[in-house]
Amino acid sequence: NRRKFCTLTAGALLLGKMTPSWAAQSGSHELRLSHNLTTDHSVHKAMTMMGERVAELTNGAVRVRIYPGAQLGTQRESVELVQRGILDMAKTNASELEAFDPVYSVLNVPYLFTSRDHFYQTMTGDIGRKIFQASRSRGFEGVTFYDSGARSFYATRPIRTPDDLYNMKVRVQPSATAIAMTQLLRASPTPLSFGELYTALQQGVVDAAENNPTALVTARHGEVARFFTLDEHTRVPDMLVISTATLERLSSAHRDALYQAAHESMIFQKGVWENASEQAVATAKAEMGVEFIDVDQALFADRTRPLRNEIASQSAQSEKVIQDIERLSV
Ligand code: GCU
Repeated sequence: NRRKFCTLTAGALLLGKMTPSWAAQSGSHELRLSHNLTTDHSVHKAMTMMGERVAELTNGAVRVRIYPGAQLGTQRESVELVQRGILDMAKTNASELEAFDPVYSVLNVPYLFTSRDHFYQTMTGDIGRKIFQASRSRGFEGVTFYDSGARSFYATRPIRTPDDLYNMKVRVQPSATAIAMTQLLRASPTPLSFGELYTALQQGVVDAAENNPTALVTARHGEVARFFTLDEHTRVPDMLVISTATLERLSSAHRDALYQAAHESMIFQKGVWENASEQAVATAKAEMGVEFIDVDQALFADRTRPLRNEIASQSAQSEKVIQDIERLSV
């Protein structure tokens, strides 16, 4: 469609105009990274730290330039630029990656992760590694992931049981699994990009959304949706992906340095995430008047359970990944 073409072209032109050093000075690389979060978000801070670290490890030969706040386009558009080798890296949410590689659907299965530890065990082990590499033939792969906490519903009116979602217009990420989950709860899903959500809530285009509590504060959603229901249906990570074209341009020493820096940034963000999330809850309560609602999560889990089998039946690979993840939790 036209808008998409324009954004991709604008993104490509913007990047072209800034054609950096790697072409001119051989052996030196400026890696451009796009994301849609604000600069006070822990994920932005972690990626800034990654940039500093990789510069240090390579004596300045590899640098990272970050474009925050979706200035180069939405998450979807940024991953498309990465896939075409026009952009080096993008931070997106695993939900959006589902449209690029079906293995990411698994990470969207409600209540699959039984705890934060279970989530980290999965993502930092063999399962995570396989997921990161699954999209290699599609032009990009995962470098690392960041904690994005548990996603819950928040709305302009209180949701205390799944029945309260009946007919509500809920913004979801552009993800088939998120759409199916919302339908199982008998709500009406509206896929929108993150940047469009504030206005959509404000103008009543949607009644509700789902995310972790930091969205209330960093994206100011708490101003327009005052009821946050702690149903914690998914733990979908944020993902840092890199173009295979970029990887091929880097020497193996530079690649190793980038992976090391990315790993350290993941550990750093793990350490600050919980505090950032608790801080967001406190600010949303005190300064925005958001009410946090405790619910019986089992009611939400029961309604959304069919999705687990639906995703598992999509491919032998998805079924195996789901089973491997479940096995880890015992
Ligand atoms: C999380 C994630 C964002 C994403 C957002 C969304 O907040 O960090 O990158 O865009 O969810 O719901 O779209």
